Amino acid sequence: MSYLSIKGLSGKATIGGTVKIVGAKNAALKAIAASILFRSPLLLDNVPDIEDVSRMLEIIRTMGGSVSVASHKATIDASTLSSTTLTPEISKRLRSSIVLTGPMLARHGLVRFPHPGGCVIGERPIDLFVEGFIKMGAKVKKVGKFYHVAAPKGGLRGGELFFRTQSVTGTETFMMAAVLSRGVTTIKNAAMEPEIVWLADLLNASGAKIAGAGTPTVTITGVQLLDAKKKVFTVIPDRIEAGSFLILGALAAKKLTVTNVIPEHLESLTELLTYTGTKISTTKNSITVSANKKKGGLCAVNIRTHEYPGFPTDLQAPMVVYLTQAEGESLMFETIFEGRLNFTESLNRMGANISMMDPHRVIIRGSTTIKGSHLESPDLRAGLAFVIAAIIAKGESKIYNVYNIDRGYERIEERLRSIGVCIERKE
Ligand code: EPU
Repeated sequence: MSYLSIKGLSGKATIGGTVKIVGAKNAALKAIAASILFRSPLLLDNVPDIEDVSRMLEIIRTMGGSVSVASHKATIDASTLSSTTLTPEISKRLRSSIVLTGPMLARHGLVRFPHPGGCVIGERPIDLFVEGFIKMGAKVKKVGKFYHVAAPKGGLRGGELFFRTQSVTGTETFMMAAVLSRGVTTIKNAAMEPEIVWLADLLNASGAKIAGAGTPTVTITGVQLLDAKKKVFTVIPDRIEAGSFLILGALAAKKLTVTNVIPEHLESLTELLTYTGTKISTTKNSITVSANKKKGGLCAVNIRTHEYPGFPTDLQAPMVVYLTQAEGESLMFETIFEGRLNFTESLNRMGANISMMDPHRVIIRGSTTIKGSHLESPDLRAGLAFVIAAIIAKGESKIYNVYNIDRGYERIEERLRSIGVCIERKE
């Protein structure tokens, strides 16, 4: 079983340099699903070379589409799909497979799929999807572990969808379904993440009519199959990867710069880092951070995760590691997923002082000395949080279940080594 072996810096701030941020996982995955809405191949650039992207492309390929990928460029032709069943072995392990259901149903009138899996961070129901399909005229049957969804004769009908809970994949799925539906669809209480705006821009540049992406109300007027006319779409930078490196830099770098970022997408993080005592400077497409190594230099803060533009749940785990180094009591309120604070138990074994109040809230008392340990990566974001904890720790750590980290972070050990981290992948 492979693992990451990391030599800790014992709290010293010695790493530094520049990290170029790759394309956003949660944008690339949705563009791959969008290819189903196209009559012609979809061309993408800046596609991250990560496991989740490979799995999503594999679903398209195994369903009869053709895919070629090289040097972060992908060509996806889903016009030849021959199956309406989302390849179950892959789909059930990948939450983002759910976004394929919208374009499939809109284009082929039928889709069968297993309950989508992914990271174990909470229950992750799909009730909003089932209700949305029904509102657009589809019939939904549960047959064993599979959902069978069939559009009405003549195709999905536009309608009004109000999401009880803002959902990123829900917004994307129905935005895409509505592109090939009859009439107008309105999504209210839509999620507003930058990846959704990018997806809407890609669809609009290919013939879709979507208004309001990035606001709580998105209106989509149905059109015919899309055609990108050989335009190449560049995936936006991964704000979560950038944020994770910035948190690492804030703890352990003399000076660390992340490049190829959109600083505006990271404001909730940079605001909190600055507030708690970390020095940040920003250019149009880069952010530089330096660790504050004054004794008591970082102060505690209360944070609640929130839909964009609030503090992202995907940065909650690395931020908890940061707060173990801040003086005083911080509260982390994880409002989105109920299973996403369980990793804090392992941080306590490393020397942190974190009390769980309930599944959504922990109190972090700092600052504490973190010691190297053997850890199991429970999901990709907590996995990276363990990597950060191991880097600041005293002694050596081994992090198992690296697949979970590879799902969302490209060549992680190589890129960490390039900024001075002593890390190796071992068998
Ligand atoms: N929810 C429902 N019913 C549904 C769908 C969602 O109750 O039918 C609830 C969820 O349980 C959760 C809330 O709505 O409490 C919001 O979940 P959302 O649907 O927004 O999450 P998601 O779309 O499944 C995406 C990202 C996650 C990211 C969240 C929140 C993808 C593939 N995944 O998940 O990314 O944490 O939005 O921003 O885009 C990650 O990259 O590590 C990751 C988990």
